[in-house]
Amino acid sequence: MSLRLLVTGATGQVGWQLQRTLAPLGEVIACTRAELDLSNPDAAAKVVRDLAPYIVVNAGAYTAVDKAESEPDLAHTINAVAPGRIAAEIARSGGLMIHYSTDYVFDGEKAAPYDEADTPAPLNVYGATKLAGERSIAATGCAHIILRTTWVYDIRGKNFLRTVLRLAREREELTMVADQHGAPTWARAIAEATAQITARCIQMRGVTGWSNTGTYHLTSAGQTTWAGFAQQILEEYTTLAEWPADTGEWGSPLVAKRVVPIPSAQFPTPARRPRNSVLSNAHLLSTFGLQLPDWRQQLRLALQDAVR
Ligand SMILES: NC(=O)c1ccc[n+]([C@@H]2O[C@H](COP(=O)([O-])OP(=O)(O)OC[C@H]3O[C@@H](n4cnc5c(N)ncnc54)[C@H](OP(=O)(O)O)[C@@H]3O)[C@@H](O)[C@H]2O)c1
Repeated sequence: MSLRLLVTGATGQVGWQLQRTLAPLGEVIACTRAELDLSNPDAAAKVVRDLAPYIVVNAGAYTAVDKAESEPDLAHTINAVAPGRIAAEIARSGGLMIHYSTDYVFDGEKAAPYDEADTPAPLNVYGATKLAGERSIAATGCAHIILRTTWVYDIRGKNFLRTVLRLAREREELTMVADQHGAPTWARAIAEATAQITARCIQMRGVTGWSNTGTYHLTSAGQTTWAGFAQQILEEYTTLAEWPADTGEWGSPLVAKRVVPIPSAQFPTPARRPRNSVLSNAHLLSTFGLQLPDWRQQLRLALQDAVR
């Protein structure tokens, strides 16, 4: 009999890709916000109860980092209360919950990549709600995997890649923050790794019960700054030239000639962000044998998808 997997946040970057990568594992039911609203935890829990999935992959989240500063209650409900309620349903049914979290649970003061044993200390509301979500899931005793990732982008959705390309069609010079360090991570790579982790968990379930549960860091290899990411986007996009005459958003030429690096202090935002967002993926590698490639290689593949 086919396993049922429920994906929340079907319209999001990761949720979109999960519908494709999880397909070989069973029946994937992907819910949009209208079908499973995390701002209403009771209703969200009821949807999970009624659909009775074996595994929930919770890709839905309140991800507007700056807006969260002025909507802390809503962000907390979506990112912490609802995941806990869903986890409680899964705990009852004996299934597995896979959930995503963020580097923003850390304050960025560590001089080396963060590992899973490092103590979280979020600088902003979004990070605090995501940390609360991790804890509310764990508190239910539900079998769970929490994947912390960073700087997520794709060729659709709201993200830095598309913002840079939009600005690069309007301006000759792009000013970008150069004192925050992290690893841009392609949503598809996250979804592919999630599918492999899920497959392994399902396989082991029959042998040892749910095993290798807990928290893992899952990001591209390597690191850069927002300025470095922007520069690489411009270079890769330009290298992929030979545009078809009209391919809409992805076919138009850029006018941007340079990226000007600036310190965060010159780009004040409502939410403070960590200086160091780099996460060590060693635990993921030693447990699941998985390692995402360098961020530049992934960026090239993502752009090839869009323009070729
Ligand atoms: N984006 C990043 O840079 C980043 C970095 C680190 C970690 N993460 C984590 O990675 C996971 C996936 O993020 P993503 O980049 O794929 O996010 P995303 O592209 O912003 O998508 C978020 C998804 O959540 C849905 N959503 C928002 N409010 C909801 C609600 N009340 N009920 C149900 N669904 C709701 C959105 O639906 P609508 O389309 O209707 O708004 C959308 O489908 C999240 O847990 C996020 O916290 C993301």
